[in-house]
Amino acid sequence: MLAYLNGQFLPRAAAAVPVEDRGFVFGDGVYEVWRVVGGRLFETERHLARLGSGLRELRIPAPDLVDPDRLTAIADRLLTDDGLLDGEATFYLEVTRGVAPRTHAFPPGRISPTIFAMANGFKPADELRRAGATCITTPDIRWLRCDIKTIQLLPNVLGKQAAAEAGALDVLFVRDGVITETSHANVLAVIDGVIRTHPTNNLILPGITRAVVLELAHDLGIRVAEASFAPSDLSRASEVFLAGTTTDVMPIIRVDDLVIGDGKPGPIATTLFRELRTRLDALALPRHSRAAATAST
Ligand code: PDD
Repeated sequence: MLAYLNGQFLPRAAAAVPVEDRGFVFGDGVYEVWRVVGGRLFETERHLARLGSGLRELRIPAPDLVDPDRLTAIADRLLTDDGLLDGEATFYLEVTRGVAPRTHAFPPGRISPTIFAMANGFKPADELRRAGATCITTPDIRWLRCDIKTIQLLPNVLGKQAAAEAGALDVLFVRDGVITETSHANVLAVIDGVIRTHPTNNLILPGITRAVVLELAHDLGIRVAEASFAPSDLSRASEVFLAGTTTDVMPIIRVDDLVIGDGKPGPIATTLFRELRTRLDALALPRHSRAAATAST
């Protein structure tokens, strides 16, 4: 497997970052994960816009990177060399402030950001999706800028591990009595016939899949409210589902001890997954039929 590191393509095992990289010592960096189908990146521009805003918030100067042509060229080379042009994959990109002696404040003068990318094969969890997954609730112990996709993911790592140990798919983070999101996906619930999801503010990542799913719901005439909900509201929810790049739309049939709806994947999650899948599959079509498929969704 190949890696891209600071302008070079090299075997992944040989790709090394100096120990004084600020990503390594401070978690001083941001990342993005794209879904790839048939060698093409899903929602290139939206992920790049989020990357650009994260870099601006952290004041990491890497303007060249936020360029779709440059990004696509890096991804194309990795996907081609790793034999990932057919089927499903993910493309990971990470940017740190760079290498400098360890002082908390930004290093004086201009240092080059570290830029790392890799592609990996991906298999969607379709069997679990058909059965429906479970989640546990846990306090949201993260910082107050969850809108920035930083590489500091310790609460997410600990949360996902707690879920794994409880035999659940993921955690629902709860802050000040409301459900924010999961360790690596956004969460939506159908309450009184309306899809509700936490509004985009500093407490959640503005998920690309969340945005696509809300657009799809809107096109289907399903009512949507960007309004948060509490764990206690889940007893009135007919459906709960997650949305994320590596999660797609995933129905949740139990949260802690509470069975959601009739304990089976519901019709809204099922329909939204089907529509999302159509958009993903359109990536693998030749350009002219892709435009037609997307227009018909
Ligand atoms: N995670 N919320 C959090 C905390 C996330 O880390 C992610 C994505 C999402 C969903 O965002 P999107 O739809 O843009 O993928 C929500 C990626 C996939 C990861 O960390 O691997």
